[in-house]
Amino acid sequence: MLNYLCAFLLCFFCLINLHAQEYHTEFSSPEKHLKVVFNMLQGKIGYAVEYDGKNIVDEGSLGFILNEKDSLLDFESVNTKRIDHHGIWHTVWGQTSTIKDNYTELRVALISKKSKRLLNIKLRAYDDGFAFQYEIPTQKALPKLTVTSEESRFTLNGNYACWWSWADYNTLEKNYYHTSIDSATHVATPFTLQREDGIYMSIHEAAIIDYSTMTLRQDTSNTHRYKINLVPWADGSLVKTNGHLISPWRVFILGHSPAALIESTLILNLNAPNKLKDVSWIQPMTYAGIWWEMHLGLSTWKQGPTHGATTINAKRYIDFASANGIKGILMEGWNTGWENWGKKDAFDFVTACPDLDLKEVVRYARTKGVEMIGHHETGGDTESYEKHLTQAFKMYHDLGIRIVKTGYAGSVTPAGEYHHGQCMVRHYNKVMRMAAKYHIMLDVHEPIILSGLSRTYPNLMTAEGVRGMEWNAWSQGNMPSHTCTLPFTRGIAGPMDYTAGIFDIDLSKHAKERVKWNGPDSGSTAVHSTLANQLALMIVLYSPLQMVADLPENYSNHPAFNCIKSLPTTWDESHVLDAKIGEYIIMARRSGTTWYIAGITNELGRECNVSLDFLKHQWPFNGTLYADGRDAHYELNPESYTIQQLSVSSDIFNIKLAPGGGFVLKLEK
Ligand code: NOJ
Ligand code: CA
Repeated sequence: MLNYLCAFLLCFFCLINLHAQEYHTEFSSPEKHLKVVFNMLQGKIGYAVEYDGKNIVDEGSLGFILNEKDSLLDFESVNTKRIDHHGIWHTVWGQTSTIKDNYTELRVALISKKSKRLLNIKLRAYDDGFAFQYEIPTQKALPKLTVTSEESRFTLNGNYACWWSWADYNTLEKNYYHTSIDSATHVATPFTLQREDGIYMSIHEAAIIDYSTMTLRQDTSNTHRYKINLVPWADGSLVKTNGHLISPWRVFILGHSPAALIESTLILNLNAPNKLKDVSWIQPMTYAGIWWEMHLGLSTWKQGPTHGATTINAKRYIDFASANGIKGILMEGWNTGWENWGKKDAFDFVTACPDLDLKEVVRYARTKGVEMIGHHETGGDTESYEKHLTQAFKMYHDLGIRIVKTGYAGSVTPAGEYHHGQCMVRHYNKVMRMAAKYHIMLDVHEPIILSGLSRTYPNLMTAEGVRGMEWNAWSQGNMPSHTCTLPFTRGIAGPMDYTAGIFDIDLSKHAKERVKWNGPDSGSTAVHSTLANQLALMIVLYSPLQMVADLPENYSNHPAFNCIKSLPTTWDESHVLDAKIGEYIIMARRSGTTWYIAGITNELGRECNVSLDFLKHQWPFNGTLYADGRDAHYELNPESYTIQQLSVSSDIFNIKLAPGGGFVLKLEK
């Protein structure tokens, strides 16, 4: 439950009513790391941002072009008010249990020339970044409106390298590029940059509620200038409302290290506090499930001789989970309709396959202290899903199923709509609210990009929206540098259901039985990682629902499985100890008195001296180290690992990581 301990508001009214077209004001973040300038010049509004005395964002411009005549670009009057906020709140789950929320906000109220339309803008200076949000209030002069361009533009000052993926209106399952800013011409967010002088920045959005999601498009004549480009509706318009419009926050996270980007809580802070009164039913956990076997082509989602989600197989997974401290079991392919996956109205979301006795499976799981995780694959057919939604959630609720994984693998209905446009934003958020009503936690696959809404609806646990583990089963897969980039890019948006933990890395154990079903490489693929890297990913890539993705038979009696059995999925604190984006990252996370130190590297092996001096006053710890074997290599010898018991009481922990390798050091009192 969110709990404001010491939230108080100090309002400084600098109420300025300027019937003039020139205006200038400046304000700083609470500890003065950030300075924001807001101005109006000849009726046009803009902003600039300085971080620790350095000019970062220049020539920020603001406004809208509307379908209705007379856009919100030229203003005749401006009122401003400054607010200082100091707060602290507690997460229901997350990478840290307590979050400080300190900022200075400038509220700007504008009246446009000619048609006298109202536009409000909030600009916030935090010590770890800057954000702004538009509001077009309900008004007679604009009873309903259609946005045809959000005129938010900015120029980045300085020279930048960046990590980015192509903007795509339908998928977030992408590889990332590391290039100079010049090549990043149309990018998805989070868009992460490093300035020549060592300042790091990630640009994203927070609180996408009833708006389309954004991409960033580079100016053709200035590679440092970007415009916010919104994903359109099928009819070409960008955002539609019946009068009242609130945009997501446009966010610039800033810091002096890659660590600062991950440790920033800006995206969550820019969302409204928890709206759910009772959160006792929300519980982070590890889960396994009938899943990887279908991706490998060993069984099928659809009914038939090799159907995966049968009563017998479900009970096998339940027994495995129960014996090993895994709390949930996902069951994909439990329902009818998979034979029509991709067609209209394929699923009714309530009818189980004849070889699956759903009630019996749920009953059996309960006797074993395990809970079943439901699955709604929509194939993108949201029209059909919305028709069945209430009944489908009610059925799960009545059965006692309180986690549902959703999926949108396929083209969207209504036909012509994009996955990431306002139409789908409305859909995903409707499902989130409906799930909350039925006390259901969500894991959303093929989602819209996360934007911190989990603060308001903590039942929105996790999402995919990442080129995850499944790609290793049926494509050339994901390189180790991919997972070393994700925490600083996709991970900035929120939790990632990457689904790590594969132990049969070269996929050799069942190679002969695999049936090709998706993509040219299916049947001859591999996971490009060492076994210790797989363990570390489950800690480095944060998700409150953390999948233990491999087949039960690949874990049974495996000594390294002990690392996963009691793995926490919510943390009291998390820190990045050392990192270079795309190359390596070492994190420390604490749950109670137990620390997990975990690291991963890219294709290059490396030796790291990890500073543990932050633990000094608690020496000694009993350590269990899961590491790469001496001869481990992500392609040549991926399953070579070692486990060692250690007493840890030294400031520096020396560890060797194999190419594509990793480690987990569990420290207990
Ligand atoms: C794609 C999802 O990412 C994957 O996890 C799921 O198994 C399939 N769709 C089928 O729903
Ligand atoms: Ca997917």
